[in-house]
Amino acid sequence: MTSRWIELESERYMPVAKRAPVVLVRGEGSRVWDEDGKAYLDLVGGWAVNTLGHCHPAITDALSEQAQSLIHTSNQFYTVPQLELADLLVKNSPFDRVFFSNSGVEANEGAVKLVRKYGQHRRDGAYTVITTDHSFHGRSLAMLTATGKPAYKQDYGPLPAGFVNVPFNDLDAIKQATDRETCAIMLEPVQGEGGVNVADPAYLRGVRAWCDEQNLVLVYDEVQTGVGRLGKLWGHQISGVVPDVMTLAKGLGGGVPIGAILAKEAFSVFTYGDHGSTFGGNPLACAVALAVMRHVIDEDLSGHVSRVGDHFMDRLRAMQAERPYITDVRGHGLLIGVEFDADIGGEIVDESIKEGLLLNSPAANVVRFMPPLVLTATEVDEAVDVFGRVLDRVRAMAVT
Ligand SMILES: Cc1ncc(COP(=O)(O)O)c(C=O)c1O
Repeated sequence: MTSRWIELESERYMPVAKRAPVVLVRGEGSRVWDEDGKAYLDLVGGWAVNTLGHCHPAITDALSEQAQSLIHTSNQFYTVPQLELADLLVKNSPFDRVFFSNSGVEANEGAVKLVRKYGQHRRDGAYTVITTDHSFHGRSLAMLTATGKPAYKQDYGPLPAGFVNVPFNDLDAIKQATDRETCAIMLEPVQGEGGVNVADPAYLRGVRAWCDEQNLVLVYDEVQTGVGRLGKLWGHQISGVVPDVMTLAKGLGGGVPIGAILAKEAFSVFTYGDHGSTFGGNPLACAVALAVMRHVIDEDLSGHVSRVGDHFMDRLRAMQAERPYITDVRGHGLLIGVEFDADIGGEIVDESIKEGLLLNSPAANVVRFMPPLVLTATEVDEAVDVFGRVLDRVRAMAVT
């Protein structure tokens, strides 16, 4: 049965994703099931999207209620869920204005337009955005230019001008790259796709001071780190450094596509006609995101993430103490990376799936955990036990 869908994919779908040989048909909480009825503990979480787990009633209720009243109108009209969601985001963040898109890449595109307009009018026509090596900002032409992974850019030239990649966690590199054309710096507080690389708080403070001194806009791409993922509502709360603009997507809709640009008033320079979207901010996506955000805030899901994430990290560090081939355990909350001294990430993911554990490997020597934020401590223990068994097996295979 499974092979029929895998075969169909190989014939009909553009082969851009490296898929695990699993056809998922159902999910509940932190678990998913394949079409043969096999259960998996899901530590991929739809690539850090399933905030409340699979098919949480808060999401399914909001989805079906909104679907029965109003699904789509366009932004030619006012709609209630969009404005309630904007209000909730502003009241629970340091930002003043919001614009909704459908994805992370669109939110980042919009943010770059915003900072270019800022540069145009408030920094003498400056337009360049400094980003960092190993960053990930999405797959549009501009955002893959911003992204600090050269392999993603091959074959797609000519790439748009106006982006400079510099080493991550290196303030001097930012200072040296800044010139009269520079209008903004865009960073992830923890690089997710890049291998779970945590920004040093001193670096972030230095970048903030540099932006203030040079009149540059500081943009945080919180597409992966926002909405409780790091154990705080927003990733920037980890260091306390507040950006001028923040982008969101992934966890905001808990599985329904939505992205957002949030900006402080002084940086909210769009006026009538500057930006737009047919689907962005539609009532269906906004009603679900509103339900997700209310749940995250009212139930203090970030606090839960912080506690469960600490427990997860403690267990992984204990595992590292016994296994010298684990070279690093890093991250915050429920965005955790485990690094190895060899490129065994892919094998670990493959072997874990056989044991009913879904994992992800963003770099050849790194395994990443980005589960639903409702993951329990008991499920962490279950995952770590399987992970340990798989590591020992893969390691034994690698050295023999
Ligand atoms: C930090 C970051 N920014 C942007 C994106 C792109 O988001 P999307 O795939 O929704 O366009 C991602 C996706 O992984 C991401 O992790």
